[in-house]
This record gives sequence, structure tokens and C-alpha cells, in this order.
Amino acid sequence: MECAAGDVTAYITSRGLDPAKMPAHVAIIMDGNGRWATSRGKNRLLGHTQGYHTLKQIVYESNRLGLSCLTVYAFSTENWRRSGDEVGGLMTLMLEAMRAEIEELIQTGIRVRVSGRLAELPQDLREELQAAHHRTQHLPGLIFNLAINYGGRAEVVDAVTAICRKVAEGKLTENDVNEDLIHAHLYSPDLPDPDLLIRTAGELRLSNFLLWETAYSEIYVTPVCWPDFDPDTLVLAISDFQRRTRKFGTVVEEALS
Ligand code: FPP
Repeated sequence: MECAAGDVTAYITSRGLDPAKMPAHVAIIMDGNGRWATSRGKNRLLGHTQGYHTLKQIVYESNRLGLSCLTVYAFSTENWRRSGDEVGGLMTLMLEAMRAEIEELIQTGIRVRVSGRLAELPQDLREELQAAHHRTQHLPGLIFNLAINYGGRAEVVDAVTAICRKVAEGKLTENDVNEDLIHAHLYSPDLPDPDLLIRTAGELRLSNFLLWETAYSEIYVTPVCWPDFDPDTLVLAISDFQRRTRKFGTVVEEALS
């Protein structure tokens, strides 16, 4: 179950990191599975399978480091445009992974969450994710938030739609609309915004990931493809984050010091 606070601090220090400057929420665009596979003459799905094994390592490392939340981009609203084989393979992989990992996640105290349009997922996957959420919410460890059938624009559209409905019902008025209200209607309003956004495989774009929530996130891009990412690379990204000065729009704010 959850490590004692002293154990977490000792672990952070053993990894060469400053316990006082840890990000609470790390978000990751797990890119490069396809390139990793095709550069080895393999089917793209093998890259996703290898990516799942990487993800497992990163979830447990994030928990050991005492992060509050890890959000990963597992399937975007645009990924449906891929071949039927790849989409079907990814859905099956996610289903089998949830079934295979749930007991160890519970043993470790990790809470599973999902962000995205779940209603459009295959029923078996949706039910497995809902069961994982239900079985882990009382646990004390890392919140492992899977962005599945997630799009940043879709999330804003869904929030605005929910607000419009409440205005039509007379529960809200136009004067109630502000940033806090929109935030409250996002998929996971209780999570802090990501402090650090990591993207693997070198592309310098957001690809419709957490558009609202990453307004002030620090961005770290590594050329390493996701299947080759590992706990040491995560520590490197956090170490880089610890050297940043966060300003949040002010002239000088040594927010991390
Ligand atoms: C992007 O790489 C990756 C994805 C679209 C899927 C990510 C999924 C996993 C890592 C497996 C998730 C498993 C669980 C249990 C959630 P890409 O295919 O776009 O790579 P490319 O840009 O090189 O083609």
C-alpha cells in the first residue's frame, strides 16, 4: 500500500531529485509507438504492446516518487481515423491490460481514473474501466488518469454544452460564466492542472491534449520513443522541471524556489 512520507522523501532524494520541488501532476503524450515498431520492421501494434509495458513501469515509478497524479494520453478522439486493425488492437490491448493489472494496482494503492467520452468506447472496455475506477477510489496512492477517447476540444465542447443546459434549465445565468465555472465542468475538475507535460518522440505540438489544463504547464520533449522511455528518463524530465522558474504570467516569480 502507500509508502510512508519519509520513505517517499528518501526515494526522491535517492533519485537525485529535490523533494521540495516535485511536480504534483505529470501528464504524458506517449508518442512514437508506431515509429518504434516500423523502424524494427514490426507491426505498429507491437509498438503499442511495448508501450503498455513502459506505461506500467512509469505508473509505479510515479507512485514511488509520491506524485499525486499521472495523466497519460492513451487514445485520442482523432485516433479512430487509424486502420480498423490498429483501433481494434488498441481497444483489446487496453481491455486486457486493465484485466491483467487491476489486482496489482489495488495492492499498490493506485487509484484509476478515466477522462474522455467513455460512452463511445466498446462496452467491455467501458465496464472494465468503470469497475477499476469503482474498486480503487478509496485508495491512498497515485491517481492514474487514463485519457481515452479524449480530445481537448471535445472536453471544452462537453463543458460548454453542460453549462448551456444548466442555463436553459434556469440553474445558471450568463453572469455565472467564468474560468472557475468552465473548469468545474471539465472531465476531472478535482485534479490539479499538470505541472509538467512530457511528450516523447520529439514532436513539438500538443495534439489536442489537455488544452485548458496545460495553460501554465512546463513542457518537456524528449526524442526517445515511448517504448524506450523508462523511469530514468522520467527522473531526467522532473530534474529539468526542477530547474525551471515558473512565472504564471507575472514578471518574476520564483515559484519553485
Ligand atoms: C501514440 O503513438 C500512441 C498511441 C496512440 C497509443 C498509446 C497507447 C499505449 C501506450 C498503450 C496503452 C495501454 C494501456 C493499458 C492504457 P503513435 O502510434 O502515434 O506513434 P507514431 O507517431 O510513431 O506512429
